[in-house]
Parts: sequence; structure tokens; C-alpha cells
Amino acid sequence: MKNILIAPSILSADFSNLIKDVSMVESAGADWLHIDVMDGHFVPNITIGPVVVKSIKKHSKMFFDVHLMITNPEKYWESFYKAGADLIVFHSEVLCDKKQLISDIKKAGIKVGVSIKPKTPVSDISEILPLVDVVLIMTVEPGFGGQSFMHDMVPKISSLRQIIDDNKYNCLIEIDGGINSETAKICADAGADVLVSGSYIFAAQNPQQVLKGLKSIC
Ligand code: DX5
Ligand code: ZN
Repeated sequence: MKNILIAPSILSADFSNLIKDVSMVESAGADWLHIDVMDGHFVPNITIGPVVVKSIKKHSKMFFDVHLMITNPEKYWESFYKAGADLIVFHSEVLCDKKQLISDIKKAGIKVGVSIKPKTPVSDISEILPLVDVVLIMTVEPGFGGQSFMHDMVPKISSLRQIIDDNKYNCLIEIDGGINSETAKICADAGADVLVSGSYIFAAQNPQQVLKGLKSIC
């Protein structure tokens, strides 16, 4: 059984008690903290800026996984890096010099990832696949927590697993959207390395137990 990493998404946390929720998932054994950044332009929602990341960083030792659902990652990634991001994930659908962006983020000494929306094929990222540390496959349309897992994304996970293994790329597969005990198992079996989970953890009666359950399934 391979060790799957669990990354709770704070999008579904209680923002009036953010540190309490962050500490709760950290003490329950969360591997990464997933931070969803939305600009109201790339996606129809607005969420977290670097000031919030900087504040949480003071209270947590977790690996900060910053998912930039924004139109201009080249303009803003550095503020998130300075705020404490350990991984910056940008979207492949944005228009910018992606190779330059990857190189700039790597030069800062942190990890870099690329995300693909449900309608974006894996072939769209073939050129940058050898350069990134993480590929984040969206299994819901980005923008909101609490949506249902798109089962038709599973073949995409398997085919990316095959490409990474065949080429011996040093790249993790992260899955984001609609993860619960059932879909976590499906993704793990298809070859995922990291699972993001928001509402399933934070809306639970006992989030720590749910998180531990997720870790034991995979
Ligand atoms: C959606 C975000 C996700 C979201 C996942 O755009 O990227 O990270 O928080 O939430 P759940 O697990 O509730 O689908
Ligand atoms: Zn996300």
C-alpha cells in the first residue's frame, strides 16, 4: 500500500476560527495544507490573499500547498512565496510564459505544480510535465468547495500515472474536488499521490476522525 498524502482544503474551514481549524487538521496528521486562492476572474469566487497565508504560517509547520486559481500567477506567485508557500500550483489554462514561471518559482527554492481543469486534457501539459513537481487534476470545476466528484476524470488520472511512470518523471499527482472515503479509494487506485479534501473533512461532526479515516483508506 502506498502512502497517500492528505491535504485538507481550508476553503471549507471556519474562517472566524481559522487557526483552530488549521491546528486541528495538523494534529490529526494532515500532510499538506491546501490553500485555495481565487481572484473572481479566473473563477467566479474570491478567497484568500497572501496576508492570510502569512498569518497562518506563524502557527503551523505544515507544508503549504497554494493553489492559484487566478489569471495572473506570474504577477502574484512571489507574494505567496514570501508569505510562506512551499508549493505554488498555477493553472495551465492561463496565458503566460509557463516555462519562465516554472523556472522563476524553482529559483526561489520552492516546489511548483500545474493544475488542469476538467475539460483540459493531459496532452496540454506534455511540454511542461518534465519540469513540474506536481500535477493537480481538478475533479470538479474550480471555484467552490462541496461539489460532486466527476467520475469521468478517473481515466485522466490513470493515463497521467502511466505517462509519469513510463518516463520516470519526478512528479506527484494531486487530486482536487469531491474527495470523500469512496472517491479517495478510487483516486488512490488510479494512481494519485496527494488528495485534497475540503468539505468532507471540515463539515464533519468529527473532522479529525474523518481525516484519519481518509489516511487509512489509501
Ligand atoms: C475548488 C477548490 C478545492 C475545494 C475542494 O475550486 O480547488 O480545493 O476546496 O473542496 P471539496 O473537497 O469540498 O470538493
Ligand atoms: Zn484547490
